[in-house]
Amino acid sequence: MARRNFLTQGSRLLTGGLLLSAMPMSSALAASALPTPLIIDTDPGADDVIALLLALSARDQLDVRALTTVAGNVQLRYTSRNARMVREWANRPDVPVYAGCDRPMLRTPIYAAEVHGAEGVTGVKIFEPKQALAKGDAVQYLIDTLLAAKPQSMTIVTLGPQTNLAMALIENPGIRQGVKEIVMMGGAHFNGGNITPAAEFNVFADPHASDVVFKSGLPITVIPLDVTHKMLTSPERIERLRKIGNQAGKIAADILDAYVEHDIKQYGLPGGPVHDATTIGYLLRPELFKGRMVNVEVDTREGLTFGQTMADYYHAAKRPENARWITEGDTQGFFDLLTVQLAKLP
Ligand code: BDR
Ligand code: CA
Repeated sequence: MARRNFLTQGSRLLTGGLLLSAMPMSSALAASALPTPLIIDTDPGADDVIALLLALSARDQLDVRALTTVAGNVQLRYTSRNARMVREWANRPDVPVYAGCDRPMLRTPIYAAEVHGAEGVTGVKIFEPKQALAKGDAVQYLIDTLLAAKPQSMTIVTLGPQTNLAMALIENPGIRQGVKEIVMMGGAHFNGGNITPAAEFNVFADPHASDVVFKSGLPITVIPLDVTHKMLTSPERIERLRKIGNQAGKIAADILDAYVEHDIKQYGLPGGPVHDATTIGYLLRPELFKGRMVNVEVDTREGLTFGQTMADYYHAAKRPENARWITEGDTQGFFDLLTVQLAKLP
């Protein structure tokens, strides 16, 4: 069942109990001996599908404990179904999928069907997966899991609007104890926005949620448009995926062929960004990326800059650093990694 809207959740204030703490920023994960315990919050979405395939392929490095879904690119029923489709493609019945919030905390819902298609994925045949959703909802799952987790042990990746994580933080700020790091796809500074001149889609779709996340005091790494709009597909890169010769390579290539057209036209780019998969690339190979610690604030005021992420790259405002802001990535290194990893799937 879908999670209730924030407005119906009672009177807890956005910042109630969420005072900024001085937790140290952790660096990226990479070289620990045991696979990194991970929850992926997602709104598939074409690039989400590539991210999930990449994550589910890396069993030696990533211990994906669950996929949690949220309304974003399309409605929750589709994002949840699509996450289950990916689980089936990857043959990972061990990974539960929990559905979460079916709308943003406060703002009117928006979707990105013009980019991802009416049901969130194009270029492949949609089907009803055999395995059902897990019982319970994503917000409760996050709360229960993070409260029970070893201190600072869980990595949370967010690939869509951050409604589920924000709701969990508001309902129980104590969950911060279990979080090692948040790695999020969202935001834009140098690049400008992709949904308004100022704002990136995921943050614009629920700015109040992202505001809660950035004020949580948790270690955050941001993969914004500043880097994803530089790490683009090419026909050769997509063809290499197809040539792997397995189902995952074909699915990724078919989805990307259909999906990149929109961005190439809309933004005049020479290829398409695979935004969400970049977060998983960062987790698997952090040395491919560069960024710096900055202060990030989200504009939640209605107006031209609604949903803008103000990343203080030059520390002009002298506000406390609260996020690592990634600006550079090794594009070929990333697509090589994607090709090697997807070859491990069926
Ligand atoms: C983000 O918006 C969504 O459309 C994509 O899935 C990605 O998460 C890029 O702005
Ligand atoms: Ca997404």
